[in-house]
Amino acid sequence: MQAMLLHAFATPARFELGDIAKPQPGPGQVLIRNIAAGINPIDWKTGTGGGRAAQLGNLPIALGRECAGVIEAVGEHVRAYSPGDAVLGFLPGRCFAEYVVAEMKHIAPKPDRVSYIEAGAIPLAGMTAWQALALGGYDLQGKRVLVLAGAGGVGHLAIQIAKLQGAKYVATTASAPRHELLSSLGANQCYDYNRPGHLDKAGEFDLIIDGIGGDIGTASLSALSQDGLMVTLPSVTAESVIAAASKMGKVARGILAKPNGNQLRTLVKSVAEGKIQVVLDRTFTLDQLNEAMDLSRSGHTQGKIVIEIGH
Ligand SMILES: NC(=O)c1ccc[n+]([C@@H]2O[C@H](COP(=O)([O-])OP(=O)(O)OC[C@H]3O[C@@H](n4cnc5c(N)ncnc54)[C@H](OP(=O)(O)O)[C@@H]3O)[C@@H](O)[C@H]2O)c1
Repeated sequence: MQAMLLHAFATPARFELGDIAKPQPGPGQVLIRNIAAGINPIDWKTGTGGGRAAQLGNLPIALGRECAGVIEAVGEHVRAYSPGDAVLGFLPGRCFAEYVVAEMKHIAPKPDRVSYIEAGAIPLAGMTAWQALALGGYDLQGKRVLVLAGAGGVGHLAIQIAKLQGAKYVATTASAPRHELLSSLGANQCYDYNRPGHLDKAGEFDLIIDGIGGDIGTASLSALSQDGLMVTLPSVTAESVIAAASKMGKVARGILAKPNGNQLRTLVKSVAEGKIQVVLDRTFTLDQLNEAMDLSRSGHTQGKIVIEIGH
């Protein structure tokens, strides 16, 4: 089968099309014929030797942590899925390939009303948004939520999930050209991050989902209520944001989003019902992965980038 392979860590990471053996599903696993695979910043971060590089097997290897496709074969003890079933999944890696093996517990059925391209964009970003909002069993009914980087892959889903879960008021930060879209997704207020002091009059929030981290995450702690919670997504700066919060007597937490087939099933059902919209920036073919990674690395995409692998 064909896959885009990482041969060496580099900045920027470069991937080469290559032929590798088709994987075989073991007990409790399924083999997915990939149709679409979403890009996430973790992919190019890992390709440079950061991110999840320490957890990878030997190079060359295919990266990519979310996909949608059709089950081609099932391993022993798999009763919930059969060949021909359409699924999506949040996987440990290897999605930028024609076939990928997945644990049954990491996937969910793809509803007919959700396209493969949309489905391939949901798993990692969707689980991150879902789990960040749910962190600490936070009850969103009537709460004020702020999403930093609302136009990103995680942010645009976080705005919509927060509204769906009862948040009274959801504000977000994005550049001005994104505001119309984010308002249409349910944001009550959009702040242009290019304007100095844009959060000065924003008031206090019960929950902040920080999709930027570092100095921006730290500066935004001023908008967190004293008994509120900030969930800071970028792992590299989480420690510094948490320490800054602690100095102010506030609470920030990091997160490591995890595959969860049951949560994914609930989330994709909301997409099928039209309650959550998956925003797509651009799609690329598998051999254009390097171009797609460059676009993601620019940090100014709207929604998700997806690699179309098959039909
Ligand atoms: N810990 C975890 O488990 C986990 C999971 C997923 C993601 N993450 C991390 O979370 C971060 C966000 O992920 P993502 O997939 O949403 O990224 P993304 O899609 O690449 O985010 C791009 C968005 O960021 C916006 N942006 C850039 N600078 C901004 C600023 N100063 N203020 C507000 N918005 C700004 C851009 O808006 P404009 O186009 O308007 O500039 C763009 O829409 C990444 O660092 C990622 O690695 C962590």
